[in-house]
Amino acid sequence: MREDLLSRRAIRMKANDIREILKWISQDVISFGGGLPDPSTFPRDEIKEISRDVIEKYGDRALQYSLTEGIVELREELVRFAARDGMSVDGPDSVLVTVGSQEAIELIGRVFIDEGDIVITENPTYLATLQSWSVYGPRIVGIPMDEEGMRTDILEEKLRSIYSGGGKVKLVYTVPTAQNPTGISMSVERRKHLLELASRYDIYIIEDNPYSYYVFEGSAPPHLKALDEEGRVIYLSTASKIFVPGLRVGWVLASGDVVRWLSLAKQAVSLHTSTLSQYLLLEALRRGIIERTVPRVRELYRRKRDAMLSALERHMPSGVQWTKPIGGMFIWVTLPSGIDARSLLKAAIVKYRVAYVPGAAFHVDGTGQNTMRLNFTYPSFEEIEIGVNRLSLAVREALEAGL
Ligand SMILES: Cc1ncc(COP(=O)(O)O)c(C=O)c1O
Repeated sequence: MREDLLSRRAIRMKANDIREILKWISQDVISFGGGLPDPSTFPRDEIKEISRDVIEKYGDRALQYSLTEGIVELREELVRFAARDGMSVDGPDSVLVTVGSQEAIELIGRVFIDEGDIVITENPTYLATLQSWSVYGPRIVGIPMDEEGMRTDILEEKLRSIYSGGGKVKLVYTVPTAQNPTGISMSVERRKHLLELASRYDIYIIEDNPYSYYVFEGSAPPHLKALDEEGRVIYLSTASKIFVPGLRVGWVLASGDVVRWLSLAKQAVSLHTSTLSQYLLLEALRRGIIERTVPRVRELYRRKRDAMLSALERHMPSGVQWTKPIGGMFIWVTLPSGIDARSLLKAAIVKYRVAYVPGAAFHVDGTGQNTMRLNFTYPSFEEIEIGVNRLSLAVREALEAGL
């Protein structure tokens, strides 16, 4: 094809490493690569029932075009859902229903980011956010993390130096609870510090929250949105991990003016989120299906996390480290420096029949070559045990070869 016809934006598009890796994987490869829920948790019978009921109850309304912002009943239900989670939202005008949170991320890029704008993320961060926003040409500044999440002391220094040089920051993007990819959660203290900095420098915070529903020990830390007194948090969540990802429904909670801008962008991107999907989610919320399913799934994922941690403990050679996430779907492994997880992947798949996502792609600055992300929710208990053993053999081989 005529590549000279491609836009500058298209040239900046990069294939998502995870989707590329998923393509290579054949049946006998154990995959820790994707971020998929365990399909045995899908409430199939309930979905069958509500699908029929939605058509009977709402008829053509469920099959027709609908409002860009989302159907009003669902937005009202999401306001109640947010309140149960400690977030007070003004009303349905502060809610935008999106095609998964992925669309919300893309809309935020469209609405807020110009070429050269400074945007801050955790480093590492969610790969598909980098993929989405890099098209708009921002300068992405990554803030390192430790076991309490984003190092807000380093953020503070960075902000000071950016502003003293005449620059300004538009957005801070964070996945504060059980982060993808590291599994790390931001401490309450850091959350407060982040909000204070955002207030001092007048910055929007994007709180991307697919995972707080799966915190295994104690209760989830408070949402930034729940602590926010100034309306500067744009909160994203999704039905993908608490119901089913195939529905493609997510939502944004933000001030009415932010919702209006995002909704304007959405008109051009997708017109509206699938009406049928929205009614299915509405009924699932109204009938308490999600409230009933989540505790059961949480317990299953806790056991899977423990199985993977225990397998890592028993099989991995010394010098390999990993996070011990309080929730979510991922464990982040750091290999001894000098081992390149991307080079190791081919041998892992071809020779050892196990796959993961190399960590470098989640970094904004080309670092993290010796890191990898492991998903523990999709594989079975048996696959976790066998797969971690296989992965350890691949790592041992790389260590011996001094790769
Ligand atoms: C941090 C984060 N944000 C957003 C998404 C997108 O999810 P969805 O578009 O299915 O709502 C994911 C999915 O894995 C994620 O991990």
